[in-house]
Amino acid sequence: MTSTAPATVIKIGGSTLGSEDTSLHDVVALQRAGARPVVVHGGGAMISDWLKRLEIPSEFIDGLRSTNAQAINVVVGVLRGVVNTQLVGEIGAIGGRAVGLSGLDGGTVSARRYDDRLGYVGEVTAVDTTLVTALLDAGLIPVIAPIGLEAPAQPLNINADTVAGEVARALGVGQLIFLTDVDGLMDASGTVLADLDAERARALRAEGTIGGGMIPKVDACFRAAEVGVAAFIANGTIPHTVQRIVSGEDVGTRIRG
Ligand SMILES: Nc1ncnc2c1ncn2[C@@H]1O[C@H](COP(=O)(O)OP(=O)(O)OP(=O)(O)O)[C@@H](O)[C@H]1O
Ligand SMILES: [Mg+2]
Repeated sequence: MTSTAPATVIKIGGSTLGSEDTSLHDVVALQRAGARPVVVHGGGAMISDWLKRLEIPSEFIDGLRSTNAQAINVVVGVLRGVVNTQLVGEIGAIGGRAVGLSGLDGGTVSARRYDDRLGYVGEVTAVDTTLVTALLDAGLIPVIAPIGLEAPAQPLNINADTVAGEVARALGVGQLIFLTDVDGLMDASGTVLADLDAERARALRAEGTIGGGMIPKVDACFRAAEVGVAAFIANGTIPHTVQRIVSGEDVGTRIRG
C-alpha cells in the first residue's frame, strides 16, 4: 500500500541507539498508518569507539569531528556498515521493510569539504529526493547514513542532524523529528521549552545555553521550517514519542519557523 502523505523525517541519535528505545516501533507503526517515514541516523559514539580501537586520531573542532584520510574509511564503515545495517535489521525484526542507503546512493546527498581543519567533513550542497521518493512510493522505509558525495567520487562525513534537516527540506512540507537523549531544548534553568522561535534561539545561543550537539539540530530545524516543515526536538528514549508528536500532542520542543 502506498500513500501520498507528506514525509516524516526522523533523526535517530546515536546516543539512544541500542537502548530501550521504541522509536523504531513508532516508525513501523507510522508507516502502517499510512505515513511516509524516512529515518536518518547518527553514530558518533560507535565511530569514536572504532577510531580508538584502531588508534586513529580524531579531535572535535566546534563540535564537529575532524576526519582524516584514515578516519573517513572508519566513518563510512561504521555508519553504512554497522549502524545502518543494524537499524534495517531491527526494523525488519518488528515487521517493517526498510532499505539502507547512504547519501551517495542514487546521488541523494551532494556535499563538499569546507574547512581544511576538518578534513573529509562535508557540508550539503544539494539533495536529490528521487531515490527516497521511489522507496517511499514502493512502501519501503528509507534508512539514511549521513555520508555525502563530493564529485567525482569522494565520500564525506556529514553531521546527521544536518542531513536530516536538508532531506526534510528537499522533501518539502511534512515533519522533521529529532529524537535525542533529552526531553527537548532546555533554557538556562533546565526547563524544556515547548516552543522555540528564531529570536529566542539566537538569544539562547548568544548566552551559550544552546551548545554541543544541540546546535546542528536547531540550525536544521530552522532550515527545514523555512519551507514549511514542522520541526521538533524530543526524547527518543521515552516510548511512543514519534506517534505522540505525529498525532498532534505537545511533546518536546516545537520549532516555530
Ligand atoms: N539547550 C540545550 N538543551 C538540551 N540539550 C542541550 C542543550 N545544549 C546542549 N545540549 C546537549 O545536546 C545533547 C544532544 O545532542 P547529541 O549530539 O549529544 O545527541 P544526538 O544528536 O541525539 O546523538 P548523535 O550525535 O549520536 O547522533 C544533549 O544530551 C545535551 O547534553
Ligand atoms: Mg548529535
